[in-house]
Amino acid sequence: MEILTKSAEETKEFGKKIATDLIRNQAAGIRNNGLTLALTGELGSGKTTFVQGFAYGLGIKQRIISPTFILVRRYDIKLSTLNSQLSTFYHVDLYRLEEKVEVEVRNLGIDEFWKNPENIIAIEWAEKIRSVVPKNATWIEFENMGKDKRKITVI
Ligand SMILES: Nc1ncnc2c1ncn2[C@@H]1O[C@H](COP(=O)(O)OP(=O)(O)OP(=O)(O)O)[C@@H](O)[C@H]1O
Ligand SMILES: [Mg+2]
Repeated sequence: MEILTKSAEETKEFGKKIATDLIRNQAAGIRNNGLTLALTGELGSGKTTFVQGFAYGLGIKQRIISPTFILVRRYDIKLSTLNSQLSTFYHVDLYRLEEKVEVEVRNLGIDEFWKNPENIIAIEWAEKIRSVVPKNATWIEFENMGKDKRKITVI
């Protein structure tokens, strides 16, 4: 799936839609591990903006800020849907990691996040840890198409 957004608001709206779809689908299927969104794309391409809308769709009302300096932020998922088994959202940003990124990310405890099917994990700059990301992750590519245009491709 590919969309072209023309404003930050539209990208947030798309993030929210992805969250809504995901909640609907997870009610039907059974998973034994956490759900992963692997976000890729250059600086300012809209990854954090997308995550803001996505988190809103998970019922998270706190402002989502870029976790660039602390690598990971944790939020409680607040869904009114009774049958929802989603509990925690982890927002990871690997931007500042340059060396031994796989090792660093393991030190964060990312394997523990992945073990729990109640978790959702969104990773900015996921291209840095391609070999570590679970096979069932959804990869989302962001491209800056000039001015306020962004191309978002869900793989
Ligand atoms: N269509 C659009 N979608 C998303 N952001 C847009 C759009 N048009 C303009 N913008 C602006 O582009 C910037 C995107 O920044 P954002 O922090 O989301 O990027 P990022 O991919 O997370 O960058 P980084 O790699 O630095 O974390 C914001 O300032 C946002 O307002
Ligand atoms: Mg960002």
